[in-house]
Amino acid sequence: MRRTYGVLLAVALVTLGTAAVMAQQNAPAPTGPVPPGLPEWAYTPPVPGAPPPPSALPSDDNAPVSIPGTTKTFTRGQLRAQKETMDWYPEDRRGNIPNIARFGKEGVRQCTLCHLPDGSGRPENAPISSYSPVYFMQQMQDFRNGLRKSADPRKANTNVMIGFAKATTPEEDLAAAEYFAQQPYPRRMKVVESKTAPKVRMQGGMHMAIPANEGGGMEPIKADEIVEVPDDNLRAEARDTRMSWTAYVPPGTLNRGKQVAAKAQCALCHGANLEGIGPVPALAGRSPSYTMRQLFDFKTGARHGPWGELMRPVVANLSVQELTAVSAYAASIQPPVAARPTTTSAAR
Ligand code: HEC
Ligand code: HEC
Repeated sequence: MRRTYGVLLAVALVTLGTAAVMAQQNAPAPTGPVPPGLPEWAYTPPVPGAPPPPSALPSDDNAPVSIPGTTKTFTRGQLRAQKETMDWYPEDRRGNIPNIARFGKEGVRQCTLCHLPDGSGRPENAPISSYSPVYFMQQMQDFRNGLRKSADPRKANTNVMIGFAKATTPEEDLAAAEYFAQQPYPRRMKVVESKTAPKVRMQGGMHMAIPANEGGGMEPIKADEIVEVPDDNLRAEARDTRMSWTAYVPPGTLNRGKQVAAKAQCALCHGANLEGIGPVPALAGRSPSYTMRQLFDFKTGARHGPWGELMRPVVANLSVQELTAVSAYAASIQPPVAARPTTTSAAR
């Protein structure tokens, strides 16, 4: 089974060679106006003039913060992660974190600031753990070479990421790639079919449920939308890597997503359980908002690196509604319990 997929993939990767070069030259310009049909729920663009919502964390930098399940305490100031990201569970990590991921360098923030100490990422950025270093390195190249942008020019953090990719060296990228490859992707995403979802507001670039005492509550979910929220606002703001997330989708979405995955043969390249095959990235259990943005970015051509050519025909034939459903379906699949072993020699 595995071998058949591998062969098919090898054939696909070879055939894409010349086509990729030609298609790249014809790709639509990724910058400029917001493309029609852009799913705003996935891109969470800033609301102009909106006041910052109250934080679940204390405002005093000296105030101690603790979260359930650990005896650790960090101050609010430490949690701002000016130099280093506080890790509530260093015992969960494998291998030694390289300096670029831990501290960053002049002009580059530490990778863990946004992608978290385990590389699991958050809905507004990206999961970067348990991928083949080959895939990881290709993404850094694509950011650097202008082949990977956001379809939404307002998505400031993707532009920041592009700046970092231009500033890191290949050695730093490889050190980060190999470190994050060792971190298992956590099982922390829950997808719930429901007619209602929490009322949300933008906080730190992502949606968070409005607390009940601040006017929160449930409201009807719009058709073809996913409402993805952390299960605990304070733990999310404190970058707790054991905290779980819930994505609410309208009833029937998961079945529709499963059918889309079958029709478009996602498993052929991404693995039977969408757990990834070699350099083809895993999709299982990842943020559906992130997955949806990537699908839409491929569709508009904003993301068009050499391997993205394999995704181009897939997304061309699917509507935004189908892409939403398949994003939810992929998120609902549990990733493997432990990461597949990744060694330096396998990576090269
Ligand atoms: C300021 C926040 C931020 C920091 C710090 C950051 N990134 Fe990112 N990263 C992002 C965003 C945002 C994306 C793309 C999300 C999108 O476009 O939807 C991304 C995407 C990525 C991807 C692509 C993941 C995928 O699944 O394709 C890789 C690889 C990556 N970053 C590596 C790094 C490395 C290495 C560092 C440290 C040198 C780093 N990032 C630091 C915000 C950040
Ligand atoms: C012919 C092989 C192939 C098929 C079929 C395929 N993919 Fe992909 N997919 C790829 C490759 C290769 C990449 C890496 C692209 C790159 O490097 O930019 C990718 C990347 C992605 C990404 C970006 C992941 C990340 O971490 O940034 C998403 C999301 C995705 N695919 C979803 C899907 C879905 C959903 C389907 C089915 C509807 C699908 N793919 C079908 C080959 C395929």
